[in-house]
Amino acid sequence: MKLLVTGGAGYVGSNCSARLVEAGHEVVVVDDLSTGHADAVPDGCRLIQADFADVASTVLGEGFDGVLHFAAKSLVGESMQDPAKYWHGNVVNSLRLLDAMREHGTPRLVFSSTAAVYGEPDEVPIPETAPTRPTNTYGATKLAVDHMISSYAAAHGLAAVSLRYFNVAGAQGRYGERHATETHLIPLVLQVATGQRERIQIYGDDWQTEDGTCVRDYIHVTDLADAHLLAIESATEGKHAVYNLGNGTGFSVKQVIEACREATGHEIPAKVAPRRAGDPAVLVASSERARTDLGWKPERADIATIVNDAWAFTQSR
Ligand code: UFG
Repeated sequence: MKLLVTGGAGYVGSNCSARLVEAGHEVVVVDDLSTGHADAVPDGCRLIQADFADVASTVLGEGFDGVLHFAAKSLVGESMQDPAKYWHGNVVNSLRLLDAMREHGTPRLVFSSTAAVYGEPDEVPIPETAPTRPTNTYGATKLAVDHMISSYAAAHGLAAVSLRYFNVAGAQGRYGERHATETHLIPLVLQVATGQRERIQIYGDDWQTEDGTCVRDYIHVTDLADAHLLAIESATEGKHAVYNLGNGTGFSVKQVIEACREATGHEIPAKVAPRRAGDPAVLVASSERARTDLGWKPERADIATIVNDAWAFTQSR
């Protein structure tokens, strides 16, 4: 297939583009490089440096079989302080993309949704049927796009899949996490091991969990890339499928730090700090639907593999 990848210079987008190329698809990346890196775009992909919403109509006019839409603003804290950036960047721009797809008859879409659409869960592991009550603007904008996609699929025959990622981590070779503003646990812990940071702060140790720290479902970015390949290949006309992507197993902040100590051989000093606003105690996915419908199976579910791969990437930089 000939596929357009928005945000293909970013962490998840570059990993998925590499997987698509490896599977024999033709990939064109559009990325404005506001947070991505040109050297992260895999060999074999054409890079168009632009805002995806501005060029979508022109580029899709070439004729594409599908779009994988990764480009987005994704900092939860920033989304609360500057909501306009998120409603325009994520919602308005995605609508422009959907309209361009409709204009040119582009049949398939895979969208990067998020666990943040669920907010504080009533039940864990979280199924796709759980109520969607996002507790931050980031999650609300992703949910709004999910709703847009559903109605375009129903009315215009779009074949669409939304993938709701839990905590993406790890790396594959040269495709890893390098954000100018880093807020994610594993890269921050590894910064302590490289000496960029003195210690890691643990946001609360009085949560209702076994060791008192928050529990998250970490998913290896390579497993995530496999799911995108299966999703674009399985997308069905007029249907909007939604899948949670996680391992179904949670690890606490303390367990993650311990895994990083083992991977790096560094003592990694940690200090307990106040809770971070908006953090739920436990977020773990039920990915039964993805396993059943897509035949997806995460192959790198243990935290040691995830952390070791992230560390190998960090050391290679
Ligand atoms: N944490 C710390 N110290 C840090 C950074 C994080 O203790 O310095 C803790 C957080 O409180 C949380 C866990 O580590 O309990 C994981 O935090 P991340 O910031 O790595 O990830 P989140 O679970 O907050 O966020 C992820 C995705 C978001 C998505 C969200 C859904 O990265 O995009 O899940 O709730 F919105």
